[in-house]
Amino acid sequence: MSAERIDGKKAAADLRKEIGAEVKKLKEEHGVTPGLAVVLVGEDPASQVYVRNKHRACKNAGIESRDIRLPEDTPHSEVVAKVKELNEDPQVHGILVQLPTPEQVDDEEIINTIAPEKDVDGFHPVNMGKLLSGQPEMVPCTPKGVMHLLDVTGVELEGKEATIVGRSNIVGKPQAMLLLYEHCTVTMCHSRTRDLSEHTSRADILVSAVGVPGLITADMVKEGAVVIDVGINRLDDGSLAGDVAYDEVKEVAGAVTPVPGGVGPMTIAMLLRNTLEATKRSLEH
Ligand code: GUN
Repeated sequence: MSAERIDGKKAAADLRKEIGAEVKKLKEEHGVTPGLAVVLVGEDPASQVYVRNKHRACKNAGIESRDIRLPEDTPHSEVVAKVKELNEDPQVHGILVQLPTPEQVDDEEIINTIAPEKDVDGFHPVNMGKLLSGQPEMVPCTPKGVMHLLDVTGVELEGKEATIVGRSNIVGKPQAMLLLYEHCTVTMCHSRTRDLSEHTSRADILVSAVGVPGLITADMVKEGAVVIDVGINRLDDGSLAGDVAYDEVKEVAGAVTPVPGGVGPMTIAMLLRNTLEATKRSLEH
């Protein structure tokens, strides 16, 4: 039997509608418009597409987005100065510096410069620490979006085996925490894992976030498992493919996210949600 196709596009559209209504209410009741500053250094084509989509989503939800473009050769110190300026700007509630940045820019230091209360990516060590210690505040958008997809799909998580492939700060590590808080038994796999298949094939919930097209094949998936594909890989012919060999995995899995139209749209919806939450918290202080 063919697996349920988890529709991230629809889930994200529903979420964005909800967020748009909350933004409108915030404006009416408090006279405040959430503001997101998106900093793009250089001209990476994929980053330009992502950033354009972020601005468009903000506009549709009534969030004020500021488009800050810096040339490819901008010195590290100037990017730091720009972030500090945005930290002090009361109309900016969220700051996102699109990664990766050019070579001369130290991403880690840039992330550490963003005020934690404006860090809508949730990458700052303060926000990572809060998540790890069980006091989540600003949670990274992609893993937060994955949890929402699992929720709307009606997946029971308590006591389940969850395997995550990939140990990045952006997805793998925070994803592990979020699944742990929902009482999954979590296994993390990475490039040095000896027998990947051994771990993926016992997963009730399998999340892949490594950027290797077609890595997860049907023989690696347990019958009826929920498979979440975070990979977005551009193939030589220009098409997009996930980490999961969708056509064969859908014959084994219980539910699976497509690429595109699965996790991708959720990331942007959660960016809007984080910007709204940051704005609301700023009103409390
Ligand atoms: N580049 C790819 N994904 C992301 C993301 O979620 N946030 C930022 N800042 N850059 C990215």
